[in-house]
Amino acid sequence: MIEKIKVSEDIRRPLVFAHRGLSGIFPENTMIAFKKAISAKADLIELDVTLSKDREVIVIHDDDLDRTTKLVGSVRFFESEILKDLDAGSWFSKKFKKEKIPLLTDVLGLIQKSKTDLNIEIKSTSLDDSLQVDSIENLVLDLIHQRKLKDRILISSFSWECLERIRNLDSKIKLGVLVGEESGNVQDAIAFGETVNAWSIHPSREDASEENLKLIEEKNFISVVYTVNEIDDMKKFLGRGAKGLFTNFPKEMRKLVKR
Ligand code: G3P
Ligand code: CA
Repeated sequence: MIEKIKVSEDIRRPLVFAHRGLSGIFPENTMIAFKKAISAKADLIELDVTLSKDREVIVIHDDDLDRTTKLVGSVRFFESEILKDLDAGSWFSKKFKKEKIPLLTDVLGLIQKSKTDLNIEIKSTSLDDSLQVDSIENLVLDLIHQRKLKDRILISSFSWECLERIRNLDSKIKLGVLVGEESGNVQDAIAFGETVNAWSIHPSREDASEENLKLIEEKNFISVVYTVNEIDDMKKFLGRGAKGLFTNFPKEMRKLVKR
C-alpha cells in the first residue's frame, strides 16, 4: 500500500540527485548522462570515481570494465590513455557508442558551467592502506580546489575511513556518509557523521524507515535515500521525510518536487 504523502513545505525542498547522471535513459556515468541530468534540473549529479593505473581519477562504477565497456579486467590495471577512449555507451544502446569513460576533471569542467552541483562517491576499492600524496582522497581534493568548486561538491563513500581522511585534509568540504553492509547501520552512521561533521547521511531504501529518517533529521543531517526509481516509491520516501533521493529518473522526481 502506498503511504500518504505529507503535504507540507518539506516536500518542495527535497534534493534531486541524478544517480550516475540521467542513467535511466542514457548510459550511466557518461557525459551525455550528466548533460541530460543538468537539463532535467537535477540539484546534484551523483557519480562514482576510482583510479587508473597511472592514478588519474576516472568516472566509473564497477571495479571491472566488463559490464560497461568492450574490454575485460580491472580498471586499475589500465592506463587512463586507454580507458578514456573506450566505448562506454554501446552496452546500453548502440546509439551511444561514442560515449567514453570520463575523467573527473572533465565532469568538473561541466559542473563549473552549470547550476547543478556534484556528489562524488569515492569507491572503497580505490583506497590505499594509508594516505599517500597520490591517494585518491588527495587527488580528488586537488581537482576540486583547482576548479574552485569546493562549495558545490559533496563527497561520499561507503568507506568511513576515507571520509575521515578527507575531513583531516579539508575541514570544510561537505561529506555524505553512505550506509551499507560494509560500514554500519544508520545509528552508527549518525554517530560517525557527528565525529567528522558530515552534511548528509545516505541510507539504502531498506534502511530508510520513517524512524531512521527522523533520527537523521533530529541530528541536523540531510537524509538522502538510494536508489529510488519508481514514482510511487519516490512519493513513499518523500512522505516518510527523506530530504533527498538518488534516482536514475531525475526528470520524474523534479515533477514531484519544486526546485
Ligand atoms: O551514492 C548512492 C549510491 O550510488 C550507492 O550505491 O552502488 O549505486 O554506487 P551504488
Ligand atoms: Ca554511486
